[in-house]
Amino acid sequence: MCLVMNSDSLSLLRQELKGHEFGNKVYFINKIGSTQDHSRSLIKKGIKPLHGTVIIASKQHCGRGRLSRRWISPSGGLWMSIITERGLTPKRTPIIQFLSALSVGESILEMTGLQCTYKWPNDILVHGKKICGILLEVDFQGDKVKTVIIGIGINANFPASKIYRSKNFALRSEITTLRDELDYDVSLFGLAKLILEKLEHYFGLLKKDEIKVIMDLWKAKSEPFDRMVSIKDGEEIFQAHSLGVNDEGILKVELPNGSVKEVMFGDMNFNV
Ligand code: BTN
Repeated sequence: MCLVMNSDSLSLLRQELKGHEFGNKVYFINKIGSTQDHSRSLIKKGIKPLHGTVIIASKQHCGRGRLSRRWISPSGGLWMSIITERGLTPKRTPIIQFLSALSVGESILEMTGLQCTYKWPNDILVHGKKICGILLEVDFQGDKVKTVIIGIGINANFPASKIYRSKNFALRSEITTLRDELDYDVSLFGLAKLILEKLEHYFGLLKKDEIKVIMDLWKAKSEPFDRMVSIKDGEEIFQAHSLGVNDEGILKVELPNGSVKEVMFGDMNFNV
């Protein structure tokens, strides 16, 4: 069995989120290139209201991951983008990846009892394996943040073997899915609803600049630091000792020569 969104569950989702900041407008598309690209085209068209609009697809054939990676998105997963345009400042914007991770992790826990951990910058793991990735796409107008599209991809009602078997699979990290962890399928509608409600709550905190509260919650469930990691920062790949993440979301690492380096974007893998 594979629980997917159908028109009944979609109208229920729309009904339950009516009047909410996130999900007041939900688009559902069966097959799509990427919900991120679709969000962009809605922004270009100037649809109103823009803030809080959600795009969900049951399957993506050109799903995008971080660092220009392909994101394999078969049916049974939750592939969702959320457009935001209110309360965004350059200081708040990087925090969105952490509050999005918290929203997903807490929703998975609430719905399934599975404990999630967070891996910098925005992976969500269950039993050390990646179950969800988050992609933030930021558009600036001059030096002002105009929109942020939050892309959330959850490996839900399908086995991880579907991803490993794909010829486009190029991720280094190990992967798991809710199906593999639970042996049953979850309601994608229910999961989306929980995530959108929690996003609304955490955005409320962000707008009050309660950044430390958000970062402390993320750190409490992050994969441990103080270990050797491999960092990909642009074209550069180097080994370092991870020290932790500060309240701006920046990773601090110690290089072999003893100097401390700050990494704002990039990728971190644990050395085994
Ligand atoms: C990552 O590399 O870990 C981020 C993956 C983000 C995937 C999601 S699925 C919904 C949205 N649409 C996309 O094309 N990508 C994001």
